Amino acid sequence: MKALEIVPLKDKKLVVLIVEKEYNEPFWIIEPPSTPQSRGLHSLFQSSIAFHKFLSTLIDKVNPDFVTEELGMRSQKEFYEDNVLAQIFRNNNISFFSVDIDENAKAYLATNLDEKTESRDSMLKALARLSKEKNEMKSIEREYLVAYGQCLQLEIEEEEREVSFPVRESWIVMDILDHARELDTKEEITCLHICSPEHVEGIRNLLESLDIQVEVLKLSKKIVSAHIDSRSDEPRNLLQSMQIQVKPIIKKSGSYNSPYLLFYLDTDERASSFDICMAYDAGYNAVIPYDNVTPEDAEKIVQDTIFSRGPKAVKNTCFFIGGRKAEKAEKVLEVVKNTMFPPFQANVVIDPGGAYTTAAAMVAKVEDALLSHNLGDLRDKSCAVLGTGAVGRITAVLLAKLGCEVTIASLNPKRVDGKEYAQKVERLLADRHKVNVSGAFAPTSVEKLEILKKADVVFCAATRGARIIEKELLKELKLLKVLVDINAVSPLGIEGIDLKDDMKEVTPGIFMIGALTIGELKHEVEKEILRMARDKGKQVFNYNQAIQLARKLLRKKIVPSEFTLTLNYPPV
Ligand SMILES: NC(=O)c1ccc[n+]([C@@H]2O[C@H](COP(=O)([O-])OP(=O)(O)OC[C@H]3O[C@@H](n4cnc5c(N)ncnc54)[C@H](OP(=O)(O)O)[C@@H]3O)[C@@H](O)[C@H]2O)c1
Repeated sequence: MKALEIVPLKDKKLVVLIVEKEYNEPFWIIEPPSTPQSRGLHSLFQSSIAFHKFLSTLIDKVNPDFVTEELGMRSQKEFYEDNVLAQIFRNNNISFFSVDIDENAKAYLATNLDEKTESRDSMLKALARLSKEKNEMKSIEREYLVAYGQCLQLEIEEEEREVSFPVRESWIVMDILDHARELDTKEEITCLHICSPEHVEGIRNLLESLDIQVEVLKLSKKIVSAHIDSRSDEPRNLLQSMQIQVKPIIKKSGSYNSPYLLFYLDTDERASSFDICMAYDAGYNAVIPYDNVTPEDAEKIVQDTIFSRGPKAVKNTCFFIGGRKAEKAEKVLEVVKNTMFPPFQANVVIDPGGAYTTAAAMVAKVEDALLSHNLGDLRDKSCAVLGTGAVGRITAVLLAKLGCEVTIASLNPKRVDGKEYAQKVERLLADRHKVNVSGAFAPTSVEKLEILKKADVVFCAATRGARIIEKELLKELKLLKVLVDINAVSPLGIEGIDLKDDMKEVTPGIFMIGALTIGELKHEVEKEILRMARDKGKQVFNYNQAIQLARKLLRKKIVPSEFTLTLNYPPV
């Protein structure tokens, strides 16, 4: 039996022009049930006069060394003798070959499926028998048979798909390469491969992975007519009033799959490996990091990128702005936005030090947790944010935008200018984000307690490894409902909290949410933003989009363990 082994061509350049057929060549491992309609459809599985004319012009122009076409379910006789295309190539003295999975390999794969199809068919027979009987036990049996039959059918379909697509396409590519190899007198070879629409993508990808130049040609047909009455009983009247316009569409190699590139502009000394890994995991083909990025650098990077990629590939481009200082990152964002103009527009993500996605995850999680524990709406709550770094500031902004009463406080005992600093933060958030929050400085336990006593929800966003709330303090808090901490480095921000706490009731009426619970959601939000930023668009993703996404992810969250069940057939 012939074995499947794709050996790349050496010392030869092969160009493959894939010509997309007007229909999918029928192929199956298990014969599909035939209906009167599907039998009728069969008459459309042949190439049209337009396709023949197009092929004749094409071969005059490109003069291919050989032509291949999938064999499908046709016999070799049907392929070579009853095929109009074979005649066209014969008349032009061009070698024409059928390419497809080897018959023996197909038979071997089919026998592997036989056992499953036999089980499925006997199960179908049993179901048909049972449908005539009516009693409770039979109805349970029926349910079990249906569940078992569905498993079998899905497995059969999965195996068929595997053979019909990746396996079969590999055979086709192997055959094309083997025919090219046989032409040992030539160094540059052109092959024309006539391909079913459903296999164009797979075969093109496979050929390109072998460094073969590929172009795809497709024939578009449009019906142009002044008066078409498709209800007319007289097909001839219809045809006489009609013109069919035929136009080839050329898709050059790589033109509709330009790689996804992410330019990572970090204002810090060293670009963060966290975001770089996230971008690769979200499916970018390459991530290009720049450190110490200034607004001037950003302008140059954006210009060089958008002009080199052009209007089409720029859609597969993303600029991601990072760096621990949110203000610096926001300045870079302004420049990036102002440098782009239609049609040279890419998506932009800004997440300085992960702060925007972390703050969004914190706020969305608390919002969801309050509702699911019947503790009311976050927007009606009084909130304290402890920590004035980027995470603390954006948490305060999001809460204020929701309508909460917000105090943002620095507890940092090392600050000498604490009071002025707190007012500065308050002004900055008002100017830049148009929100009203109260800034406070509370380096002592007494001042801290004053703030905590007025809060329904407390968000701890102090630096890693800084303990800011001791257990003792909690006894004094009457209003407090939820405490969240985002510091994942020991000692954690709150005494007694666990990284994975998810609304754990530590003292009656006070619930805690730990850093990993928030971190997991933040992770999902960032990945989803990165995925969305790969798609066409000219969107800027900041904390506003991050919170919408976090809410959506929480609504859709499906925990498999909550849904797992095992079906046991009841004892007789
Ligand atoms: N899980 C995640 O995915 C994720 C992502 C990003 C950040 N984080 C965490 O979120 C927290 C905040 O990060 P960030 O980037 O906004 O800020 P940060 O630079 O880590 O620090 C936040 C604030 O902590 C305060 N602070 C420092 N030492 C303190 C002390 N001894 N006592 C009390 N406060 C002290 C600082 O002063 P002020 O209080 O005066 O401001 C600083 O502004 C960090 O713990 C970080 O690790 C987690």
